[in-house]
Amino acid sequence: MRLQACLALLPVLGAQGLRIIHSNDDGWAELYTRSFYDALVASGHDVVLSAPAENKSGSGSLDADPSPRNTQCQYGSCSGNGAPIGRNASSPRLNWVNSFPATSMRYGIETIGPLFWNGQSPELAVSGPNVGSNLYLQVHFSGTVGAAVFAAKEHNIPAIAFSGLTGGTQAWNTSTPSAASKVYADLATTLTNAVIASGKPYLPEGVFLNVNFPEVGGQCAEASDFKFVLSRINVGLFSAPDVQHCGSTRLPFDTAVALAKGCYVSVSVGDANDKTTAPREKQAVVRDKLSNLLTCLP
Ligand SMILES: *[C@@H]1O[C@H](CO)[C@@H](O)[C@H](O)[C@H]1NC(C)=O
Ligand SMILES: *[C@@H]1O[C@H](CO)[C@@H](O)[C@H](O)[C@H]1NC(C)=O
Ligand SMILES: *[C@@H]1O[C@H](CO)[C@@H](O)[C@H](O)[C@H]1NC(C)=O
Repeated sequence: MRLQACLALLPVLGAQGLRIIHSNDDGWAELYTRSFYDALVASGHDVVLSAPAENKSGSGSLDADPSPRNTQCQYGSCSGNGAPIGRNASSPRLNWVNSFPATSMRYGIETIGPLFWNGQSPELAVSGPNVGSNLYLQVHFSGTVGAAVFAAKEHNIPAIAFSGLTGGTQAWNTSTPSAASKVYADLATTLTNAVIASGKPYLPEGVFLNVNFPEVGGQCAEASDFKFVLSRINVGLFSAPDVQHCGSTRLPFDTAVALAKGCYVSVSVGDANDKTTAPREKQAVVRDKLSNLLTCLP
């Protein structure tokens, strides 16, 4: 019910929706990313995809100008004609960059997106959903996170990184898309639209959200089976108190949310400077923005 209420708020934004730049680290032709792209477009947003030409998992925040691509892109998705960047000729908002995730986000924000937006910058940046989780220590090495952090840190664009535990890489044009690709796309769109519906500024300055979906299957088969939990990126044994939430000043560790029985999505507020947990003042802003969506762990 609550999720539907959030989605229902979207039409007030107008037919155009938001200018959203979208990247990932698994490659521009990976199905999880394409399913999310399609869901964002279906919900009214003006989305430009700018993602690596191939799988660049584990690249963290590496950033280097793209080099000529002389072999086919992932899954045969481009011919490899020697250009450093390219696009789908019949869907030009789908772009590949022959470099790292953070680089493809940089090109998306500075070069490719503005071509479609009358020279304007994106209003929001999203990354993923990654094939596989990005929890705790993985956050630092994740290219999915690296792309989102680039947007937040270098351009002060509100940014969200999404990852899903259910594995299984699939090409964008597979004839048997996995159930997880659709569920993750729906959940990511719900969270994105809730952030947008909370109004400007969409997120506090200098933070990003790190969102992890648990496995799809069994009792967690459909998007409506899942609940969102505010979390932190590390245990925080010696850290300053977190925001007061769910009767505590210590938010659950993202890994604890992932291990909890049930269908819980962890939503951590990350510091874009060092990819650790953001301070409680910034957590508080996100808690209040997402209050209709968040639940407490039992
Ligand atoms: C990318 O590579 C990593 C390991 O380097 C692997 O775990 C992941 O499944 C790959 N993703 C795709 C989309 O091939
Ligand atoms: C390019 O876009 C067309 C039309 O939308 C689609 O049929 C095709 O599968 C796309 N290819 C890639 C690699 O995105
Ligand atoms: C997906 O597109 C690639 C490249 O065009 C092609 O080789 C492959 O056969 C297509 N797969 C399906 C299932 O259509």
